[in-house]
Amino acid sequence: MPTNFNRIAPFYDTLAFLVFGKRLLEAKKAFFPLIPHQAHILLMGGGTGNILNDLLNSKQAVTIDYVEPSQRMLDIAVKHLRSEFRARVNFICGDEHQVPPNATYDVCTSFFVLDCFTQSHALEFARKVTSALKPDGLWLFADFFPAEFTFHRLLTAAMYDFFAMVSSIEAKVIPDYAGVFEDCGFTAAHEMELMNGFIRSMVLKRK
Ligand SMILES: C[S@@+](CC[C@H](N)C(=O)[O-])C[C@H]1O[C@@H](n2cnc3c(N)ncnc32)[C@H](O)[C@@H]1O
Repeated sequence: MPTNFNRIAPFYDTLAFLVFGKRLLEAKKAFFPLIPHQAHILLMGGGTGNILNDLLNSKQAVTIDYVEPSQRMLDIAVKHLRSEFRARVNFICGDEHQVPPNATYDVCTSFFVLDCFTQSHALEFARKVTSALKPDGLWLFADFFPAEFTFHRLLTAAMYDFFAMVSSIEAKVIPDYAGVFEDCGFTAAHEMELMNGFIRSMVLKRK
């Protein structure tokens, strides 16, 4: 069965908050200040759009292509978007294959998306998404990393079991992100760690 976040969509944000508090939001918003004011942004797998209003409010001229395969996630994102921002977001129900052809972006984001993929899908996804990024474009990335502490390792295993059950995610382990960045020719220009490096937020640029 293909990955599908529809079933978990109505509970996703509450669940994430109960387990991680505000840390996931913190990781996603960490490098908003580095986004150019008039950036055209490709926001991949944005889920319920829980960062959209803040992003559009803090950067008053950015425009966003919002690509999300779960229709229920997308519906929530549309519903929660403040009406004054509606014209600046182009909602697309799809995955990396539905990124608008010929569009180029100043910024792309993948927040807690790559961890859902096998290594080969993570590579395919990243190649596709970064190929739409301008030469000096930024890739804002946040995700879970292999954990040092037993509790975080147990939590990772529990999350993979849970999302395999409710969302049929294909991955069973965290992919090798460094291999993906290297393959696409990107390197970390900035990095922030939360929970002793279990959660990391990065700004990636072309080498
Ligand atoms: C773990 S959720 C994270 C949602 C959101 N980024 C957040 O941090 O709240 C993963 C999201 O990635 C989406 N997704 C899964 N496969 C995808 C793909 N191939 N392309 C884009 N998004 C995808 C899912 O539908 C889901 O909304």
